[in-house]
Amino acid sequence: MKNIRASFGTRMGAIAASVGSAVGLGNIWRFPYQAGENGGGAYILVYLLCVVLLGIPVIMSEFIIGRSTHKNIQGALRQLSPGSKIHYFAYFCVLGAIVICSFYSVVCGWVIEYLYQAATGALAGHGSEDYGRFFADFVGSPVRCVLWTILFLCINFAVMTLGVRRGVEGVSRVMMPLLFVILIVFCANSLMLPGSHKGLDFLFSPNFKALGWEGVVDAMGQAFMSLSLGVAALVTFSSYFSDDTPLMKDAVTIASLDSLVALLAGVLIFPAVFSFGFEPTAGPKLVFEVLPAVFYQMPGGYWWAILFFLLLFFASLTSTISLSEIPITFLTEEFKMSRGLATLCCAVVVIAIATLCALSFNVLSDVTVAGMNIFSLLDFVGSNVFMLLGGLFTAIYVGWFLRKKVIKDQLAVKGRTSSLTYNYVLVCLRYVAPVAILIILYYYVTA
Ligand code: TRP
Repeated sequence: MKNIRASFGTRMGAIAASVGSAVGLGNIWRFPYQAGENGGGAYILVYLLCVVLLGIPVIMSEFIIGRSTHKNIQGALRQLSPGSKIHYFAYFCVLGAIVICSFYSVVCGWVIEYLYQAATGALAGHGSEDYGRFFADFVGSPVRCVLWTILFLCINFAVMTLGVRRGVEGVSRVMMPLLFVILIVFCANSLMLPGSHKGLDFLFSPNFKALGWEGVVDAMGQAFMSLSLGVAALVTFSSYFSDDTPLMKDAVTIASLDSLVALLAGVLIFPAVFSFGFEPTAGPKLVFEVLPAVFYQMPGGYWWAILFFLLLFFASLTSTISLSEIPITFLTEEFKMSRGLATLCCAVVVIAIATLCALSFNVLSDVTVAGMNIFSLLDFVGSNVFMLLGGLFTAIYVGWFLRKKVIKDQLAVKGRTSSLTYNYVLVCLRYVAPVAILIILYYYVTA
């Protein structure tokens, strides 16, 4: 019997899944606080420049590898470079996806805890200073942290057993439109709050002094994280794309929607933060310690809090789905496992590592490497090693080593390849992206 490989059902579904991958905690949690710390509009400008010069070309490099072969990352590299050892890069991607999925799920566990506490009403009614303690109490409790993380991962892997079309595509097609609706309702509300313009000024007026080189490097790293680059997530997804999808158009759509969500998250957060007189530069704590206090000062705070954490839940679930698809596709195709067994294997490994990460805030907080607990270590390795080195690899591989015919064929729309598109992708992959990534790595190594 011939094995028919899965594929996304529609182009819309393929885009929804890819946008689902891109839109995640990176957009709603990380981007706003980084913009807040790094000079608002200046950071946003640099970020958007990174999306155009690094993000879209590297998305294209992953799309070209995946769609030209319709295989998992290892099968794809074997087919494109037969006889070479390049396909070992697959192990790097699979490991990277597992590492990222593991620490990421811990934060998703926090989101479920907050959703639960918001729904029961227990999150409400604290004084604004108490949310710091609320958060510290929660992450200090091993049982709660671990249980929520595992619950999140069970939901994630339950979706994965449903397959590419019903699971990955089905969930994204429902959750992504809902996410946009929630986001827009929220932004409208934020903009109507008294004094909201102060938040917009803070977010959009460029303060280049506050940006500095560190901010520029952060913006580049953020582009990689936000667009899900480096560990073959988009190679895997694009292997399920149909052959007549215009790749460049889809890459631009995905990058634009992803950036739009990041900006809207800023519009949701800062006007509200300013309107109620809170500190906009709270950093990573912004979402878990400042926002709850903000919501409960608004009329209907009970619902706003629930809606916000629901938004984060949708965003993060579609992201971990894309991370899990990398090892699952790899195992089913390279090791001929059934999808169920592959999902189970990934689930066991990810749950084990994620549990260690969740415990690193409490019982394992003494276990540190280079001053970082397990969670921070995996976050650091995931963001700085896997995403960046992986992005460097795909950029150089497609830019310098892949046959030009493969690139041209994949860029073609109705049989024609625009030379502008081709040159833009190739120049960015050959020169701009490698140089930029090496700068970031140099910065991290010497900092
Ligand atoms: N892009 C997601 C975010 O912004 C995170 C993510 C999902 C990711 N899949 C990925 C990051 C694959 C790197 C690689 O939150």
